[in-house]
Amino acid sequence: QCVLTGSWINELGSNMTISSMSKNGNFSGLYYTAVTATKEKIKVSPLQGSQHHKNEQNQPTFGFTVNWSFSDSTTVFTGQCFVEENGKEILRTTWLLRQEVHNLRDDWKATSIGSNVFTRFQ
Ligand code: BTN
Repeated sequence: QCVLTGSWINELGSNMTISSMSKNGNFSGLYYTAVTATKEKIKVSPLQGSQHHKNEQNQPTFGFTVNWSFSDSTTVFTGQCFVEENGKEILRTTWLLRQEVHNLRDDWKATSIGSNVFTRFQ
């Protein structure tokens, strides 16, 4: 059984806490990124997501959005919660980061993509 609630850390050192999982799979939490594409001071930012709850193997897919409180950017993560052979849970995710650009001509460079792997924190 893979459970999304709790605290997680990724390979960049970013950590997040997912709390308040509702019956229909909606959840919210807080994200503290270790890195930023901006020159702003990093602050804890809210996240909101949704988990697929009808998963036979209990390794659910999910997605969440981080609305960065210290920048104009938005990141969406999508992924799956897995239980490894050693019994440890991991979250395999892919993200899209959208930065705000001030001109339509800059739209082409405004979105970046990457992946993050999260393991339980503490
Ligand atoms: C910004 O720079 O405007 C906001 C912070 C973005 C942090 C990105 S989101 C994808 C990647 N994974 C992380 O944990 N942090 C970076």
